[in-house]
Amino acid sequence: MLKDFIIPKHVGIIMDGNGRWAKKRGLLRINGHKEGMLVLKKTVESCKNLGVDYLTVYAFSTENWKRPKLEVSFLLNLLKYYINSELNYLKENNVSLKFIGSRIGLDKKIISMMEMIETETGNGKDMVFSIAFNYGGRMEITDGVKNIAQLVKNGSLLPEDIDEELISNNLYTKNMPDPDLIIRTSGEFRISNFLIWQGAYSEYYITDTLWPDFNEEELIKAFKVYNTRNRRFGGV
Ligand code: IPE
Ligand code: IPE
Ligand code: MG
Repeated sequence: MLKDFIIPKHVGIIMDGNGRWAKKRGLLRINGHKEGMLVLKKTVESCKNLGVDYLTVYAFSTENWKRPKLEVSFLLNLLKYYINSELNYLKENNVSLKFIGSRIGLDKKIISMMEMIETETGNGKDMVFSIAFNYGGRMEITDGVKNIAQLVKNGSLLPEDIDEELISNNLYTKNMPDPDLIIRTSGEFRISNFLIWQGAYSEYYITDTLWPDFNEEELIKAFKVYNTRNRRFGGV
């Protein structure tokens, strides 16, 4: 890597295009998700090896419940499989895994597996890896507002003390820096409810590559483009 090359500290990825990848091959959509899960494993390794501190991936949105029942249950089972198969890698490589999103609507089994891996990998200091599952940015802000309203109601907070920092600290991503770079695969120019508060000043990179075709070379390409961006944060 070049001398002045900056590795983004926090990378977000909207892993999109699994269904189209499968369709192109005459396969069922679920085959695309299976392949996408393998690519996620490799991407976690690449990010860790390249020195990313925080990786946050969008795996299942609050809107994805609208999909056919069979696809939804496949995605939930895939998460269980992923947790079981990645536990050792994450522990051995000091990666701590966290889930961001709502737990409402998820069954007890999956919630206990999420909690198990969060605890088991909790000491990992090399990279914080967050999976946004049953995640929606609007729901996250709504949940945060409810927490804050409760504090005001019970008298421990004054409305005039509500500031941006307090709101950030009431989101699922509390204690995490905002993402520097958000990558979306499959060529869609939208954020689909991903990190809408945190991404206010993120750099966005969109590639036509479908998620199951994504790889380390593509990741480095995104980092190179990120290095050409002039981040002004409203300054000059
Ligand atoms: C992304 O791929 C995975 C999830 C949203 C769970 P899609 O399933 O959205 O794939 P496309 O966009 O239909 O190709
Ligand atoms: C966004 O992809 C959600 C995930 C990648 C998990 P979608 O495929 O659900 O988003 P839209 O429907 O194209 O906006
Ligand atoms: Mg999609």
